[in-house]
Amino acid sequence: MDKLLIEGGAQLNGVVTASGAKNAALPILASSILLQDKLVVSNVPHLNDITTMLEILSSMGAFMTFNENMDIEIDTSSINNLKARYELVKTMRASILVLGPLLARFHEAEVALPGGCAIGSRPVNLHIDCMRKLGAKIDTSNGYIKASAKGGLIGADIDFTTVTVTGTENAVMAATLAKGQTIITNAAKEPEVTDLIKCLNLMGAKISGLGTDTLIIDGVDQLHSANFSVMPDRIEIATYLTAVTMTGGDITIKGSQPKLLDIVLKKLGDAGAKIEKNNNSINLKMNETPIATDISTAPFPHFPTDMQAQFISMNSIAKGKAEVIENVFENRFMHVQELIRMGGDIELKGNTAFIKGNIGGLKSAPVMATDLRASASLVLAGLVASGITKVDRIYHIDRGYERIEEKLKLLGAKIDRISE
Ligand code: EPU
Repeated sequence: MDKLLIEGGAQLNGVVTASGAKNAALPILASSILLQDKLVVSNVPHLNDITTMLEILSSMGAFMTFNENMDIEIDTSSINNLKARYELVKTMRASILVLGPLLARFHEAEVALPGGCAIGSRPVNLHIDCMRKLGAKIDTSNGYIKASAKGGLIGADIDFTTVTVTGTENAVMAATLAKGQTIITNAAKEPEVTDLIKCLNLMGAKISGLGTDTLIIDGVDQLHSANFSVMPDRIEIATYLTAVTMTGGDITIKGSQPKLLDIVLKKLGDAGAKIEKNNNSINLKMNETPIATDISTAPFPHFPTDMQAQFISMNSIAKGKAEVIENVFENRFMHVQELIRMGGDIELKGNTAFIKGNIGGLKSAPVMATDLRASASLVLAGLVASGITKVDRIYHIDRGYERIEEKLKLLGAKIDRISE
C-alpha cells in the first residue's frame, strides 16, 4: 500500500498550477447522461474519484475517448444499463449524482445506497425527497434506490430543508429535462454548483439564478453537444496556500480564481500571510509563525468544511489559541487524534476543537489518513514536524489531490511516495 514519507522543515517556494475541481468535474461528468450526444470536458483532474465516475458511466454503456489535449469526450448515446452498482458506489458517495440524470432521460434508475462515511452519517434522504417531488416513485430495498417516473419527471417547487451540494446538483440535473418549471429554494450556492449549471446551460438547458439560493429551471425536451472546461479546484488551491502559511515561503498558484476563496484568503491573512490577488493567480508570502485563527464552517460563501482539517493543522503550530467549529458534518474530526499523536494540543467538545498552538512545533509520527481532507491536514503537519512523518492509507488523498507529492516537491518539500 502506498504511503507518503515527509521530512519536515523545508520552506515552500515557487509556482504551481491549480488542477480542475474534483467536485465540479464529478457532476459535470454525470450530466453527460442527460445527452444523446457527446460532451467534451476539459481541465478534468486525474483522480481516483474521477476514474470511479468514468467507470460508472462506462458500466452503463457510455463510451469515453481522450482527444489530443487529454480532454474527455463522453458519448452516452448508447447507454443501456440504468444501474449504478454497489461495488462502485461504495467507493465514492458522489456516485449518487447519476440518479437525477438517469431519471430525467430514461425515466428509470437503480442506484446503490451509499453506506456510512468517515465524516458523518451523510444520508441521501434529500436527494430521494426531491426526486419524489419531481414525480418519481422510489423504493429503497436491498441496498438500492429504485426509481421510476413513467411518462417523465414533472417540474415542481423544491425547498431544501438543509443546504446540500450534491442534492442541489441532482435536483437541477433532473429538472433540466422535466416538463414545466422547477423552482429550487435554499439551493447550495457553492461555485461547483454554478459550474455545473454553466455547463448545462451550454448544453441548452434553461436555468437562471446562478450563484443564488433560488434556481429556476424551465424544462427542455433535449440537450445538445457541448465543450466545457472545469473550474479550478478552490480547495486544492487553499490547501497549498495553508501549507505555505505553515512552512513559510513564497508561492504563486496559477489558474486560480481568487474571488472564490475570499473567506479562506481573509483567514490566511489574519494568520499573518501576505496575499496578492491577480485575475487568475494568487501569490502568498509568509515569513513568521502563523497567528492562531478561529474558523466556523458553513455552506458557501462561508468557510468551507473541506478546509477545516487543514486549519486545525495550521492552528496546531500557531501563536495563541483558536476555536474551530464544524457545522456541516457531525463527525469530521478524525484527524484530531492523529494530530495529537504528533504533539498537537487539541481538545474536542461537541462540534468545536479548542487548539493551543504549540510553537515548539509538532513531532513526526506514523499517522493514518481517514478521509480526503484529514489526509491533507496530516501532510501539512508532516511538512512542519521535526523528523520524518509517515502517512498511511493515502488512497484517500489520491481521491482528491492530483499528484500532491510532485506539486509539493516542485515547491521544495521533502516528500516521497513509497510502496510497502
Ligand atoms: N444531508 C442530509 N441529507 C441529504 C444530503 C445531505 O442530511 O440527503 C446533510 C449532510 O449529512 C451534511 C449536510 O447535509 O450534514 C451537507 O452535505 P452536502 O449534501 O452538502 O454534502 P455532499 O453534497 O455529500 C459535497 C462535497 C463534499 C463537501 C460537501 C459540503 C462533492 C462530491 N462533495 O458533499 O466534499 O464536503 O459538499 O461542502 O461535491 C470533499 O471533497 O472532501 C468532500 C467531502
